[in-house]
Amino acid sequence: MSRVDKEPWWRGAVIYQVYPRSFADANGDGVGDLAGISERLPYLRGLGVDALWFSPWYPSPMADAGYDVADYRDIDPMFGTIEEADRLIRDAHAHEMRVVIDIVPNHCSDAHPWFREALAAGPGSPQRERFWFRPGRGREGELPPTDLGSIFGGPAWTRVTEPDGRPGEWYLHLFAAQQPDFNWNSTEVRAEFLDVLRFWLDHGVDGIRIDSAAVLVKDLDLAGETAYTDLDGVHEIYREWRSLADGYPGDRVLIGELWLPDHQRFAAYLRPDELHAAFNFEFLCCPWEADRLRAAIDESMLAHQPVEAPASWVLSNHDVTRPVSRFGRADSAFSFADRLRRQGLPLDLELGARRARAGALLCLALPGAAYLYQGEELGLWEVEDIPRPLLQDPMYHRSGGADPGRDGCRVPIPWSGVEPPFGFSPPGAAAAPWLPQPPAWKDLTVEAQTGDPHSMLELYRSALRIRSAEPALGDGTLRWLDSPAGVLAFVRDPGFICVVNVSGEAVPLPPHESVLLTSKPLDGSALPPDTAAWLRQ
Ligand code: GLC
Repeated sequence: MSRVDKEPWWRGAVIYQVYPRSFADANGDGVGDLAGISERLPYLRGLGVDALWFSPWYPSPMADAGYDVADYRDIDPMFGTIEEADRLIRDAHAHEMRVVIDIVPNHCSDAHPWFREALAAGPGSPQRERFWFRPGRGREGELPPTDLGSIFGGPAWTRVTEPDGRPGEWYLHLFAAQQPDFNWNSTEVRAEFLDVLRFWLDHGVDGIRIDSAAVLVKDLDLAGETAYTDLDGVHEIYREWRSLADGYPGDRVLIGELWLPDHQRFAAYLRPDELHAAFNFEFLCCPWEADRLRAAIDESMLAHQPVEAPASWVLSNHDVTRPVSRFGRADSAFSFADRLRRQGLPLDLELGARRARAGALLCLALPGAAYLYQGEELGLWEVEDIPRPLLQDPMYHRSGGADPGRDGCRVPIPWSGVEPPFGFSPPGAAAAPWLPQPPAWKDLTVEAQTGDPHSMLELYRSALRIRSAEPALGDGTLRWLDSPAGVLAFVRDPGFICVVNVSGEAVPLPPHESVLLTSKPLDGSALPPDTAAWLRQ
């Protein structure tokens, strides 16, 4: 039985995140596009993933790489057309992969017609009610309405020039100034997003990834992050979204991007009448330490149980340091706050790759769904030496360089050949890739790794093949086995064992019938450090 035959599909799916601008460039302008993705569908199917999640592809001035949306019902010309999106959805289905798109409901672009109308209509207008406009403090309104800071650094308020040319009100933006926050108290905003959801569900998508899902509702009388993080009113929005999604045939899924440390608060979003699933960022942020990994796994399973939602395991995405680089440092946790400090620390890419391989087998053996960010299957590392003038991420610019930003995990992926653009763009392309690729990626192209049994790509291919044929994997539960300190060992019934050696020494394998897959060759019959094994019990 293939994994997609299991119902409902999303409980145990492997979902591959496509970051369109960096996946494949068919027209040679140095930026990925939908035609490029279409050409690579056989690659994705061959890899063995069940679904594709596309980061935003909408018309956008790209102040935040497309997470600043100017029109929720169209495709940016840089990526293609709505007809191409329709074809891509159809073709993905024909290749037996589901499609998840990214919806950004917290904010739009300052180029969105509603924001332009709000600026033109002036203070007190119904058009401004769709956003958070407020007069400033101080004698002349020259101070922001509150002290709230932007998640990207700097203040969360920007002052506008009124239609009469004078400095006027301020508007709220939790992210960049080009990303004004919607006011979710507005019935028009609520109705608009239900309609946007209908639009894409009618176009055949199987799921929606909800950007910044916990911050939609605000109470500006509260201080700091409490003004917007996880306010109770947000649940009502997702109940409405759920009943809309439930009205569609097939299993349409709502997946939340929720960065919430409290397990109970997190699980509340996954109650049966709200979202179906949410990314497990606690696991993603975990250092390569057995106790911490085990605690994150246990706590996550425990939190999901009462609401009967599957857990979702993630090692990376377009916002975080690539695992090969993260695991290659002594301090292998991830946090946005410490990113700059960590970048300066010594890095052992070989160690990082070994751990990332073991981490992949761990991630794919845990109960629930798994996410895979493009390039993870190639073992790409974080590119930490992009020349500063080429950096685009507003996190870098708004923090005055205090945050290195996220460009390093967004570099276009290498497909073939021995020099940039490594098949990302067609031969004779007019422009270089939008971010430069390291020449050393010649060894990490899809072409170079294909057929090499020791490559990361072939490890992923084998793991995904086993996972889809293995009844024990995907949705379900796990049972821990007694194991030496620093070793994670668990059974997935029926008859499957995963062992991960996070200790510094080789350890014996638990009793088993046969070895299905290892992330690195065994040392005789022992499991080497930083290695994982899948065993038949
Ligand atoms: C989410 C996205 C991130 C984006 C932010 C603002 O965290 O994953 O890339 O910058 O929301 O939309």
